[in-house]
Amino acid sequence: MASSTSSSTCHCCSLLIASCLFLLSSTLVYGQLTTSFYASSCPALESVVRSTVAQAMANDTRMGASLIRLFFHDCFVQGCDASILLDDVPGSFVGEKTAFPNANSVRGYDVINSIKTAVEANCPGVVSCADIVALAARDGTVLLGGPSWAVQLGRRDSTTASQSLANSDLPSPASDLKTLINAFGKKGLSARDMTALSGAHTVGFARCQSFRAHIYNDTDIDPAFAAAQQGGCSFTPGATDGSLAPLDERSGLAFDNAYYADLVARRVLLHSDQELYNGGSQDALVSKYSSNSASFFSDFVAAMIKMGNISPLTGTAGQIRASCGVVNSS
Ligand code: HEM
Ligand SMILES: *[C@@H]1O[C@H](CO)[C@@H](O)[C@H](O)[C@H]1NC(C)=O
Ligand SMILES: *[C@@H]1O[C@H](CO)[C@@H](O)[C@H](O)[C@H]1NC(C)=O
Repeated sequence: MASSTSSSTCHCCSLLIASCLFLLSSTLVYGQLTTSFYASSCPALESVVRSTVAQAMANDTRMGASLIRLFFHDCFVQGCDASILLDDVPGSFVGEKTAFPNANSVRGYDVINSIKTAVEANCPGVVSCADIVALAARDGTVLLGGPSWAVQLGRRDSTTASQSLANSDLPSPASDLKTLINAFGKKGLSARDMTALSGAHTVGFARCQSFRAHIYNDTDIDPAFAAAQQGGCSFTPGATDGSLAPLDERSGLAFDNAYYADLVARRVLLHSDQELYNGGSQDALVSKYSSNSASFFSDFVAAMIKMGNISPLTGTAGQIRASCGVVNSS
């Protein structure tokens, strides 16, 4: 019988349970990020990151948005390992900065380098560039008026980067809903996570070349909005390719839920964004977030923490780079 109380069974059971618990707890510790990782090794870390991000945003109001995106583009390629920060070395190393989704688009590298310099002055050789990127994304969100959360830390930095994975795994603005769901699914993120994370498009800007097809060729767009956007982004590729427009025209510098109202009104720039509200599986969630900023904020935070846990290097894997743009020399 299952509820046998014979002493030999019991003894056996408790040994099994003890070893199971031991295995479980060592698994939880190994490979897991914690919010207190630098509590004793670098107590000033969070205040140094926050003040440097605040300074950068005071100089450049777009920077908070750029730092949020930098974290996404790091985590989706080889995991959150700062691989995106490695500089190309002509003739010997091709990294992710020059991949199609990043080139002339991703920003914030100088800010991460400034934070790293300030952090190294306080606690040399201790804090990874990957963790700095995660903290800067949280701080950008908070300083733009969005939610806050305790950032899980303990990532280490890669010694490699992958231009080909950056090209294949970062979703294109031409993607349809199924492609977006698959791209996030490949990283262990759900469709709900994808829809909540896309709410980051409540801040920041896109280039004409990213939204030209949507404003000229798509029909799932408010005609007045399309016409107005066409004024700054001409149909013919060329001079206006780099012209910027805010991803959220209502409140482009505030981290709020207005992006979802834009989706409902069909007044967004990216084809991929409108796919979240175009008769498919995410319509109900978009509509909920558009009227309930608390539920957007809490799902966004949960999804940012989940995204931050994509394949981190931990323990003795990887390294703590001395300078975020280059692998340590020995
Ligand atoms: C769902 C798939 C996504 C696609 C297809 C996508 C695509 C894009 C594109 C095309 C741009 C404009 C880039 C340019 O023209 O230079 C952009 C900007 C941006 N994206 Fe996404 N994105 C996605 C998800 C995300 C996620 C998950 C986040 C963060 C959690 C994010 C944060 C941002 C931010 C903040 C900007 C503005 C950056 C700035 O102004 O510097 N995006 N995205
Ligand atoms: C201020 O922002 C501009 C871009 O808008 C950048 O070129 C410059 O390096 C920044 N300066 C500082 C001190 O951060
Ligand atoms: C719009 O669609 C036409 C016909 O498919 C295509 O030739 C053109 O390049 C597209 N334009 C943009 C801006 O995507």
